[in-house]
Amino acid sequence: GLKKINIIDAKDYVDQEVEIGAWLTDKRSSGKISFLQLRDGTAFFQGVAVKSQLGDDLYELIRHLRQETSMIITGVIHEDTRSHFGFEIEVSGLKVVGESEDYPITPKEHGIDFLLDHRHLWLRSTKPHAMMVIRNEIIRATYVFFNKEGYIKIDAPILTGSAPEGTTELFKTKYFDKEAYLSQSGQLYEEAGALAFDKVFSFGPTFRAEKSKTRRHLIEFWMIEPEMAFMHQEESLEVQERYVAFLVQSVLDNCEYELSLLGRDPEILKKYTKLPYPKISYDKAIEMLQESGDFPEIQWGADFGSPEETYLAEQFDQPVFILNYPKAIKPFYMKPHPTRDDVYICADLLAPEGYGEIIGGSEREDDFDKLEAAIKAAGLDPEAYDWYLDLRRYGSVPHSGFGLGLERAITWITGESHIREAIPFPRLLNRLNP
Ligand code: 4AD
Ligand code: MG
Repeated sequence: GLKKINIIDAKDYVDQEVEIGAWLTDKRSSGKISFLQLRDGTAFFQGVAVKSQLGDDLYELIRHLRQETSMIITGVIHEDTRSHFGFEIEVSGLKVVGESEDYPITPKEHGIDFLLDHRHLWLRSTKPHAMMVIRNEIIRATYVFFNKEGYIKIDAPILTGSAPEGTTELFKTKYFDKEAYLSQSGQLYEEAGALAFDKVFSFGPTFRAEKSKTRRHLIEFWMIEPEMAFMHQEESLEVQERYVAFLVQSVLDNCEYELSLLGRDPEILKKYTKLPYPKISYDKAIEMLQESGDFPEIQWGADFGSPEETYLAEQFDQPVFILNYPKAIKPFYMKPHPTRDDVYICADLLAPEGYGEIIGGSEREDDFDKLEAAIKAAGLDPEAYDWYLDLRRYGSVPHSGFGLGLERAITWITGESHIREAIPFPRLLNRLNP
């Protein structure tokens, strides 16, 4: 038989006859020639079917194919410089595999709620396709980067008995006769990992019962959380910027077609591969916001919302680190600044173009007494954190880490407007299906 290929490999089969499993996305037909818009899961391409070559019966069948019918196509690959993709297939044979009913997502425009209700089908369309391939590339590049730099992946549990990022945004669930929480962050477990393996990272789902309905928030999102022993914050910032630049470079190198499907200009992304990234203090950020005149109310101590982050990021054309936030707006586990008692040794990385915070990180409090006091001051139960305090009882070391929100990074790198399109099946305030 013929060689079965994926169309993404078309360049290796120019002028050869091959077999491809595909679906019909659209078609244009006349009495003599049909242009089939096809996808095989790896790319979107055109099939050309000519009546005089195929005979009346097969041509009639092709003419009446319905959207999303699945099929085995045979044909010869040709270059096609007019299309995004660059190759087409001249159909020599076609066998229907699965018929299709009236497909709900037609080539016309649909509203976002309709599309999200049909997310299980919408994933087949070009934009979701490009987004998910880029998501995969960012995940792949994450493993490459951390393995290259000597990190071990230590998986954090999803069901937990304690709550690192605060108690208000927790999902509670029954755990036999006890209560458990869905993880908001793997960080505390990664700290245990760092003291056992030096440099570790986790990559897993995290859950926040945030009542925020913004273009930056998911209820369930994926986070990459590296944690490094014997490492201070300055060095952690270098890891962070190297990592982010590596993600952008990997997408530039390996997702040219997907970026073109999304209309994302690679020239913009190239700016984000230049290191180092700018770094300013929280104090300086407050001054900049005050001087802008756009934030008349803002005072030292305020947390930044979307407008503040967007304004700050717009002052730079690379991602920018904001260093040393006030204690009152950050979690208990951070290490206080050595010469100031009002800020932590921490940083957020803000993405350009209005995408906001993509990384949060800090040096960790490594002193037993100070950490215990911080836990109590935060109103948390030291009993529940006894295992975490053990990390300061037995050979504590300076250590630092950070968390990158995967979908935030994807939304920024792809230039999309809403985070819901960066995950296969988004969980939103008003959406748990499909
Ligand atoms: O800033 P966050 O809350 O930090 C932590 O969870 C730390 N424990 C990480 C660490 O140091 N190991 O969250 C980290 C990142 C944010 O910068 C953001 O990119 C993303 O997670 N994030 C969200 N992404 C989507 N939807 C949400 N609701 C998110 N909340 C945080
Ligand atoms: Mg944060």
